[in-house]
Amino acid sequence: MQTDFLVIGSGIAGLTYALKVAEACPDKKVTVITKTKSDETNTKYAQGGIAGVMDTDHDSFSKHIDDTLIAGDGLCNVPVVEIVVKEGVDRIEELIAWGAQFDREPEGDFKLGKEGGHSENRILHHKDVTGREMERTLLEAIKSRRNIEMVNHCFVLDIITQHHLGYLVTKSTPDIECYGVYVLNLTTNKIEKIVAKITLLATGGNGQVYRSTTNPAIATGDGVAMVYRAKGRIENMEFIQFHPTALYEPGVRGQSFLITEAVRGDGAILRNASGEAFMERYDKRKDLAPRDIVARAIDSEMKINGTEFVYLDCRDMDPGKFVEHFPNIHAKCLSIGIDTRKDMIPVSPAAHYSCGGVKTDEWGRTSIKNLYASGECASTGLHGANRLASNSLLEAMVFSHRSYIDAVALIESLSFNERIPDWNAEGTTAPHEMILITQSLKELKLLMSDYVGIVRNNERLQRANRRLDLLHEETEQLYQRLIVSPQLCELRNMITVAYLIVKSAELRKESRGLHYNTDYPGRSEILQNTIL
Ligand code: FAD
Ligand code: SIN
Repeated sequence: MQTDFLVIGSGIAGLTYALKVAEACPDKKVTVITKTKSDETNTKYAQGGIAGVMDTDHDSFSKHIDDTLIAGDGLCNVPVVEIVVKEGVDRIEELIAWGAQFDREPEGDFKLGKEGGHSENRILHHKDVTGREMERTLLEAIKSRRNIEMVNHCFVLDIITQHHLGYLVTKSTPDIECYGVYVLNLTTNKIEKIVAKITLLATGGNGQVYRSTTNPAIATGDGVAMVYRAKGRIENMEFIQFHPTALYEPGVRGQSFLITEAVRGDGAILRNASGEAFMERYDKRKDLAPRDIVARAIDSEMKINGTEFVYLDCRDMDPGKFVEHFPNIHAKCLSIGIDTRKDMIPVSPAAHYSCGGVKTDEWGRTSIKNLYASGECASTGLHGANRLASNSLLEAMVFSHRSYIDAVALIESLSFNERIPDWNAEGTTAPHEMILITQSLKELKLLMSDYVGIVRNNERLQRANRRLDLLHEETEQLYQRLIVSPQLCELRNMITVAYLIVKSAELRKESRGLHYNTDYPGRSEILQNTIL
């Protein structure tokens, strides 16, 4: 298959970009591929909302910029923060024009929520299912674009570069180029090549590397792993954000249900096993301190009290308002026997967001030519060492817009590479058992949760590294001899991502933002990103 614009991913980043390039270039073909259903994305699960300076009577760009910089703990790229905050408002207006509904007061003003680290109410939301509303809007809009083809159940295996033409490609090769991708078409079970002039990587996050995560099963860091294999630049992978309040449900594996931070924004309070509202001992901003602080405080309380969760107390909140703002959370809690008017919600931190990723410039360009990245798989410089809540949907829209501007200016100068060989599957056979893959996956998640979680130290990181070496070796052997499957490829990608997290964590000899190493509790004077 040949396509002018190839988009890998159908979350907010991929769809925003696809709509824009399709509209700007009606004679060009745009292909969006996803590895499962088109709406199965991190985007769909976003709850709290999207941050934006909409209420200029109380809020301002400089306040939003300052809040982002404070959360980012010294590592944000200041011009990028200014771009996202200032351009974000136009992107939100576009989304509304495409049909997204955000909650409004009876007089018509937006109902703006508040979350940790924000000095003002600036979170636009659609009840507690903002992501679902955004995904719905974008998928609807895509349907009206004739030149967009959506290909679901199509697993991207690798980015095609000069390496596949037989050239030696290393990290220091200048001008590595992307010519498209190899995919495993899950409908035909065939490996195909998709040759593209320009590719956008919008593959989302990697929360599935951990045992407990708010991310759905698709979040396995495939894009980051592919770019790393293709010798592109990856940065700041140690900064994994743990959301403080995932619902604690014993026995639930895979994806934990999120209790949005907006619940604390509306007045809920964290309590430990003794019922103490402990956050005031940790930070003067109490329950609305930035996420890294709240997650570490919960982790510490759980360790002190020997419990697997703390409580979120919503009992003093207005029950009518609670149900109106958080109908999805209310329904979920009721379904497992928790009545938030009388009962406290058991919560614990869970892996939630990857601040690092594929390094991009101000136009979404990666270090590989004709390959852009946007959304959670990208590291644009906005988040630094810790993302401010509700800034990621905003970032994705701003950078997909910027990538579209750059890509549209470039497309006429590019042609298809006609020399791409077919995928070589010689010597591989069908697996006769899956246990080798599923067991390695369990081991990976455990080791990452136990040794590379909220609090780290050198010994744990070294141990994680040793375990990863073995998993890597065993999985590479499987990969050499087995016909590829999504399970095997995801495991391989997750091991790569885990390695990048551990390696970056080892390189950072300080504690900053989301990375806390008890062997280096202080901060270094030198501000630097970890680039691999
Ligand atoms: P995604 O939306 O995750 O889309 C990824 C796409 O890539 C999918 O279509 C997938 O199929 C495709 N893909 C991946 N790998 C492959 C492959 N190998 N082959 C083919 N396709 C592939 N952020 C906020 O700003 N506000 C919030 O309120 C908020 N709440 C959140 C709540 C939850 C529970 C979660 C999990 C996240 C939340 N976030 C929030 C973060 C935010 O939702 C994500 O960062 C954002 O949606 C990521 O969008 P994306 O387009 O980059 O990727
Ligand atoms: C939440 O709703 O608490 C999540 C918001 C985010 O991750 O930005």
